[in-house]
Parts: sequence; structure tokens; C-alpha cells
Amino acid sequence: MSSAVSDDLTFRPPTPEDADRCYAIEIGAYEGDEAATLAKITTRIREYPQGFLVMEHDGQVIGFINSGCAHDVVMADDAFKELVGHDAAAPNVVIMSVVIDPAFQGRGYATTLMRMFVELMKAQGKKTIHLMCKEQHVELYVRFGYRYVRPSESDHGGMGWHEMIMEL
Ligand SMILES: CC(C)(COP(=O)(O)OP(=O)(O)OC[C@H]1O[C@@H](n2cnc3c(N)ncnc32)[C@H](O)[C@@H]1OP(=O)(O)O)[C@@H](O)C(=O)NCCC(=O)NCCS
Repeated sequence: MSSAVSDDLTFRPPTPEDADRCYAIEIGAYEGDEAATLAKITTRIREYPQGFLVMEHDGQVIGFINSGCAHDVVMADDAFKELVGHDAAAPNVVIMSVVIDPAFQGRGYATTLMRMFVELMKAQGKKTIHLMCKEQHVELYVRFGYRYVRPSESDHGGMGWHEMIMEL
């Protein structure tokens, strides 16, 4: 079921048909090899649609957040990005992608998308949300309500990353 928060924004779980459009947004918005592959996005839709929130503007997909769940979160675990070790019943959510189509950035949509995602995870009884971000997004996530944990051991995409957490 989808839910509308304004005249033109709608949120819903993904279908397999969303994979191509989500991949196009992912490679258009993330730098270099930061972007997830089509195979990873397809896996995340299939394995954990409850943690994959699609945002539409006037019926067009313009952004999404996807995730997996773990009992013990190990942020630098690359296999987890393919949901190896994911357990939908586990209390801790690990966000993999937060992305808005560049044509729609700067309008507050990521803020709305994150707020909807947090509510979705609370409704599922989750206890924490974890993510890794680049230096330039640390402040953004602090404003979303995340707390800084530590610099990450990951050098994903050849860059420095930082671990953030939100207690729900
Ligand atoms: C990061 C991203 C999701 C933000 O989307 P958005 O819809 O433009 O964000 P919003 O309009 O909701 O902006 C939220 C706040 O973050 C700030 N912000 C947005 N993008 C930013 C950036 N690249 N660097 C620093 N601050 C940024 C905005 O200025 C805004 O601040 P304000 O509330 O004080 O005005 C989007 O730029 C994106 O998809 N980037 C590529 C993927 C990515 O890097 N995702 C984050 C991975 S950890």
C-alpha cells in the first residue's frame, strides 16, 4: 500500500520492476564505484522489501532508501551489502543507499524520505538504524537525528567513511 504525504509525493514498497529505475538513479547520483550494482539492488528488493522505501513524485520514482537487518552490526562487512547475513527479524537496521535523483535534489526530499523511513522502521519494532556516510554528509545525518560513532574501517569506493547510528 502506498501513502501520500503531499500532493505530489508518495511512498511505497518496491516491486521487481523498480530495479532498473532505482539503478539508474543510483548511478546518476553516487560518485564512481560507490553506486550499488543492478544485481545488488535487485537482491535488496527481493530479500527485504519491507526495508526498501520507494519515493515517487507525480507517479515517477525519484528516490529510495534500502537496508538490511542484523543482530550484530558490522558496518565494514561488504558481503552484507548483498544481504549475506541479513535477518529480517533482527532489531538493527543497516541502511545501504539513501538517494534522490539529482534532478530533484535540494528540495528537502531526502529529509522527507528519511523521516518516512524512520517511521517505517519504528512501526516494524526496530531498535537502531546504522549507516556509513562520507564526511560531507555527517552534518546532514546529525540533523536527521543520527549520532556520530567513529571513522569507518571501510575504504569503499576509495573514500573515507564515517559510521552513524540512530536509536529508535
Ligand atoms: C544526499 C542526498 C540524498 C540529499 O538529497 P536532497 O533531497 O538534495 O536533500 P534535502 O534537500 O532533503 O537536503 C537536506 C539537507 O542536507 C543538505 N545537503 C543536501 N545535500 C548535501 C550535500 N551533498 N552535502 C552537504 N549537505 C547537503 C541540504 O542543504 C539540506 O540542508 P538544510 O535542511 O539546512 O537546507 C542527495 O544529494 C543524493 O542522493 N546524493 C547522492 C547519494 C548520496 O551521497 N547519499 C548519501 C549517502 S551516505
